[in-house]
Amino acid sequence: MTTVAPEGPDGADSPRVRQAERADLLEIHRIEQSAFPQPWPFSALESYLGEEGFLVAEADGPEDVPSVAGYVVADTVPNHGTPLGHIKDIAVRDEYRREGVASALLERALGVLAVTGAGSVKLEVRADNHGARRLYRQFGFEHRKTIPNYYSNGENALVMVRLL
Ligand SMILES: CC(C)(COP(=O)(O)OP(=O)(O)OC[C@H]1O[C@@H](n2cnc3c(N)ncnc32)[C@H](O)[C@@H]1OP(=O)(O)O)[C@@H](O)C(=O)NCCC(=O)NCCS
Repeated sequence: MTTVAPEGPDGADSPRVRQAERADLLEIHRIEQSAFPQPWPFSALESYLGEEGFLVAEADGPEDVPSVAGYVVADTVPNHGTPLGHIKDIAVRDEYRREGVASALLERALGVLAVTGAGSVKLEVRADNHGARRLYRQFGFEHRKTIPNYYSNGENALVMVRLL
């Protein structure tokens, strides 16, 4: 059986989250390819290595070998003098979904963004991605605007924003 690794020696009920490393990239890319109809290429993921907002959640695999359960890419963009946080990519491997992995990743990513001095955070989500929209609403994100034809298949994106 595979389990999401608990954080810390006290076994608190949340996965271990740490900065992504080069050795994680193949697994991250595999998750990306199975999670999205238009996945990021390997080189795009690679370009965020070393960024504090590129995080992975670890799971203990069949022989207790840690593997990547999910990841998030968050960074900031300049915005009239105050940086604006951006959750650019987040996905969790199928078998680890609904175990709080994305929540743990988002929590940490928001912490990283807060340290940069960002005043708010935005993200884009497909209108029909109801699971992700619910997750983001739980984190206080609100629908701010809709960008028509944002995705390459013509789908609209909802832009969701929250204060930090
Ligand atoms: C969206 C995604 C990242 C959520 O990851 P996750 O680890 O399963 O999320 P969590 O376990 O932290 O979920 C927290 C809460 O969000 C909501 N939620 C998450 N996924 C949901 C789903 N598929 N349906 C309904 N609600 C969902 C629930 O309220 C959930 O709490 P609950 O399980 O106690 O009901 C994951 O489903 C995924 O990788 N999807 C494919 C990639 C994707 O769509 N990424 C988002 C792009 S904008």
